[in-house]
Amino acid sequence: MPSILITGANRGLGFGLTKLYVADGWRVFACCRDPDNAAELSALSEGCDGSLTFHRLDVEDHTSIDALAASLKGEPIDVLLNVAGYYGKIIVTEPGGFQKFGTSDYSEWDKTMRVNVYGPMKMAEALIENVLASDQKKLVTLSSIIGSIGGNNLGGIYPYRASKAAVNAIIKSMAVDFKEKGVTVIPMHPGWVRTDMGGPAADIDADTSTAGMKKVIDGLTLADTGKYMVYDGSELPW
Ligand SMILES: NC(=O)c1ccc[n+]([C@@H]2O[C@H](COP(=O)([O-])OP(=O)(O)OC[C@H]3O[C@@H](n4cnc5c(N)ncnc54)[C@H](OP(=O)(O)O)[C@@H]3O)[C@@H](O)[C@H]2O)c1
Repeated sequence: MPSILITGANRGLGFGLTKLYVADGWRVFACCRDPDNAAELSALSEGCDGSLTFHRLDVEDHTSIDALAASLKGEPIDVLLNVAGYYGKIIVTEPGGFQKFGTSDYSEWDKTMRVNVYGPMKMAEALIENVLASDQKKLVTLSSIIGSIGGNNLGGIYPYRASKAAVNAIIKSMAVDFKEKGVTVIPMHPGWVRTDMGGPAADIDADTSTAGMKKVIDGLTLADTGKYMVYDGSELPW
C-alpha cells in the first residue's frame, strides 16, 4: 500500500486530496493544526481501518515539524505533499485585486514566508529520509501560477507572489540535489480554485483541481523532476 503525507489536510484542497487518496486505498498521514476539531477528517476516518491517521502539525512551528518527523521515523512516505498555504487576510475577489504596491504589512509578509516557504523547506528537511525509504519517492508542493516570474503580466500580489516564487526556487534546487537519489520534486499550480483561499469567483471547483492533481502526481516519473506543473498536466514558465 503506497503512502502519502498531506499538510493542510483539514479543508480546501488538502482535504479534497485526502479524500481521493483514501478512496484509492493509500495509507494517508493527514496533517493539520487542530485535529481535534477537524470534523470532516474525523468523519472520513470512520471505516478506514487505520489507513488514515491524523497528525498535529503547524508548519510555522519547526518544533511541531520535528515532533511529526520523530513520530514517523522509519516510516516510508511515497509522496510528501505540501498543501498548507497562506494567501493573506483577505480572500481573492478578482485576479490581482489585493496586495497592491504601497500597502505592505510586513508582519503579513513574515507570516506568508513562514507558511509558504520555510514550511515546505523544513518539511522536506525533516522528512527526506522517509521519502528516500519509499518506492515512489515524490515530493510535491502546491505553489501557484502567481509564483511564475516569466508569466507575471498582472503585477501586484507582492508577498504571496514572492513566497511562491521563493518556494519554486527551493523546489528547483531540491530537484537538482535529489535527482541522483531518485526523488521526483515538483511545484504544482492547482488552478484558481473555489476554496476559502480562492474565493467564490475562482475558475474551477475543488473536485476538478484535486482529481487533476492526483492524476499528475500518480503519473510522475523521475523524468518530470524540476518541472513546474499544473493540475491539468501542462507546464508553466518559471
Ligand atoms: N485556491 C486557489 O485558487 C489556489 C491557487 C493557487 C495555489 N493555491 C495553493 O494551494 C494550497 C491550498 O490552498 P487552498 O485553496 O486549499 O487554501 P485554504 O482553503 O485557505 O486552506 C489552507 C490550508 O492550509 C492550512 N494552513 C495554513 N496555515 C497553516 C499552518 N501554519 N500550519 C498548518 N496548516 C496551515 C489551513 O489550515 P487551518 O484550517 O488550520 O487554517 C488549511 O488547511 C495553498 O498552498 C495555496 O497557496 C491555491
